[in-house]
Amino acid sequence: MSHARPTRFSDRAALRAAVEAWRRQGESVVLVPTMGALHAGHLALVAHAKAIGRRAVVSIFVNPTQFGPSEDFARYPRDVAADLDRLAETGADAAWTPEIDTMYPPDFSTRIEVAGLTEGLCGAVRPGHFAGVATVVTKLLNQVRPDIALFGEKDFQQLQVIRRAVRDLDLGVEIRGVPTIREADGLALSSRNRYLDAAERAVAPRLHAVLARIAAALRAGAAAGPLLAEGVAELTAAGFGPVQYLEVRDAETLAPLERVEGPARVLAAAYLGRTRLIDNVAV
Ligand code: PAF
Repeated sequence: MSHARPTRFSDRAALRAAVEAWRRQGESVVLVPTMGALHAGHLALVAHAKAIGRRAVVSIFVNPTQFGPSEDFARYPRDVAADLDRLAETGADAAWTPEIDTMYPPDFSTRIEVAGLTEGLCGAVRPGHFAGVATVVTKLLNQVRPDIALFGEKDFQQLQVIRRAVRDLDLGVEIRGVPTIREADGLALSSRNRYLDAAERAVAPRLHAVLARIAAALRAGAAAGPLLAEGVAELTAAGFGPVQYLEVRDAETLAPLERVEGPARVLAAAYLGRTRLIDNVAV
């Protein structure tokens, strides 16, 4: 089915007026926060938003505060016109595309730190990343005031950090995770996959294959330590490097696990050439 492009808002008051008008009519509002460079994974989130709510708002903002000084902020892909065209396929109602000064005026002084959950995994190798994410997501939730916000499970630690911040700060929004969308060969969809050259793209699905194999062995009762050591060796032999982490964690608290008894996740981050890939699989 083809739809119109969503209405684009770059002015906060206009966005609020539109959302409040929907609310007055009793219409539920679902937010899908993104940094643009939309791919089929994002479109699945928007389709999910339209399935569970009456109105879907997609935010597009490449958030500088979640990138480290040597990360890819400058080269992160940006093409809002193409994103709006893609959103027309989904029936999204609004695109919130704030300017940098709306998000971070020159004297912006506030930062939201979520302790504990942010200490390992990506938090260990990307200092400040989750403070940047928690701060910008809190702002987006306050700007849009949705009933529900959707996040992909691919960024699993991010999802748990956001859940905790929203609970701790009584933001009054329901946070829902949506399963990762994958290519046919298992590679998790990511805006950063476009950085991969052909040889790297051929190797990239090994990350998911290793995670899936470890998850299956854990389910069968194996201990994590030897499986993780083998997994790192396999990824390194395949051409990944450095493997920043490959770990088994409790799905809610993110505490490290040696054996799995309840809901858990195997999570990894590894470079393939200049591209950092992350992925995780439920145990
Ligand atoms: O997952 C992302 O795209 C970003 O981290 C988010 C949640 C939009 C915050 O900038």
